[in-house]
Amino acid sequence: MSYGFPLQEYIGVPPKKGHPEPIERGDDIEVDPKLLEDGYDDDYESAGYDTSTASLTSSVNEYVYENGRRYHAYYGMDKNVIPTDETEQDRMDLHHEIFLKLVGDLHKAPIGPNPQAILDIGTGTGIWAIDMADKYPSAEVIGMDLSPIQPGWVPPNCRFELDDAEEDWTYHQCKFDFVHARNVAQAINNWPKLMRQIYRATKPGGYVELAELNTVMRSDDTTVRDTHGLKIYMDKLGEAMVKLGRPANISDTFLKSALTRAGFVDVTAIRYKQPIGPWPKDERLKKIGMMCLLSASTGYHAYGMMAFTRILGMDPKAADDLCNEAAAASKNKNIHGYNYFWVVYGRRPL
Ligand SMILES: C[S@@+](CC[C@H](N)C(=O)[O-])C[C@H]1O[C@@H](n2cnc3c(N)ncnc32)[C@H](O)[C@@H]1O
Repeated sequence: MSYGFPLQEYIGVPPKKGHPEPIERGDDIEVDPKLLEDGYDDDYESAGYDTSTASLTSSVNEYVYENGRRYHAYYGMDKNVIPTDETEQDRMDLHHEIFLKLVGDLHKAPIGPNPQAILDIGTGTGIWAIDMADKYPSAEVIGMDLSPIQPGWVPPNCRFELDDAEEDWTYHQCKFDFVHARNVAQAINNWPKLMRQIYRATKPGGYVELAELNTVMRSDDTTVRDTHGLKIYMDKLGEAMVKLGRPANISDTFLKSALTRAGFVDVTAIRYKQPIGPWPKDERLKKIGMMCLLSASTGYHAYGMMAFTRILGMDPKAADDLCNEAAAASKNKNIHGYNYFWVVYGRRPL
């Protein structure tokens, strides 16, 4: 399987024992002191936090095709190993809200006030595209996805196209002021081709922005250890990705290099810490952590089940256990874990 460039260079440094990498000081997330009062293994519920996931799990068995989930199979089961059923759609919309709270805006690239054409690759439920259409009435916003899961009632300047972003594009050259892709990295095999197509379709002076979660679990206080259930889960997921010919993990180095190699300039990476669980003292981060816990309640199975069973050949029960252990580990209030969320943008030179 070839990426067109040396994969090892981008997969990143193997995690060190005890902590994934040297801790950077200066922007540590402070732990809510209330959580430090009780015993080590207490979960959030016992500390008085409502972590009810009822709103996300009520429809989990409505469309059962495999693993209790409905997957999109038009392009083959290993094209997108994540289901696109209502449960996953709820999770995608929740993650959009997490993203807005974390990043503070729909995008970071300085695209100017009156863009004419915007493309969202792997648009999912189309929530970002719809918000962008509202924000920029001057623009025609196109959301593209493998799955027809977008709503029909949308702003007049927004539309959706069913397509595979890895196939040859039919968009005019230099059409878009802004091309955007968020949380699609786990589904992309041929990065150089995708980046070339994005470059060709972007206007000179226009921008591309990639927003991706790095799946390495980290903590500022070394409470995330190698034995952490979520860390074990992430490692296994990485194994499945590599087997599919995709990077095990998406880092800023990977994203910046992908854009630079395609010809984009002024490539800028912004790092956010996305906590899991309401352990941060800071109210905004606490809310984000809580929302991430809700997202995780279906997210681990969404990302893991197909990858573990079909790709790694695991027994469904063992795969289910791995997902449940990851979910349980993230509910431990004494583990102060977070992931990096990277927003990386670049400009096509004039
Ligand atoms: C995790 S969701 C993210 C959705 C959206 N970008 C967001 O952030 O809310 C990934 C989406 O990418 C889509 N996708 C995966 N591979 C794709 C491809 N090759 N072409 C187009 N869409 C793709 C999936 O169908 C899914 O809807």
